Amino acid sequence: MNSDLVFLEGIRDERGLLVALESHKNIPFDVKRVYYLTDLKSLEPRGFHAHKNLKQLAVCLRGSCRFILDNGFEKKTYNLENPTTGLLIGSLVWREMDQFSDDCLILVLASELYDENDYIRDYEIFKKEVSK
Ligand code: TYD
Repeated sequence: MNSDLVFLEGIRDERGLLVALESHKNIPFDVKRVYYLTDLKSLEPRGFHAHKNLKQLAVCLRGSCRFILDNGFEKKTYNLENPTTGLLIGSLVWREMDQFSDDCLILVLASELYDENDYIRDYEIFKKEVSK
């Protein structure tokens, strides 16, 4: 699967933790967009789409959540619960997110600007696309 957990090294001292994310250092793409998800509901899963080209890195900055990634052949589940763990999500990966804790805050770095045409929101179309 072209997606995986990455360790994001932080600088911890008596004042707290600082984690720096830099393109082509610990992020394997140019970061063109940043967004975050908050006020999530544990019983309102999100995602249910893949992207044709977009690559992303998701980090659960606070609380916890679950990502289920599916490349059309294999499914993997990732529990994100700390700000030094990033989940790299490659292109053509179907993602679902759920089990959000009440305090969950998810940061996402993306390789492209928002483009609805890059989304595949139909699982059958996704399956056809990955089987080409
Ligand atoms: P979507 O990507 O479907 O959210 P999720 O995968 O978390 O369920 O996006 C939800 C809505 O927000 C949808 O109408 C598109 C819009 N949106 C933007 O306008 N810009 C963005 O950068 C993102 C990620 C979404």
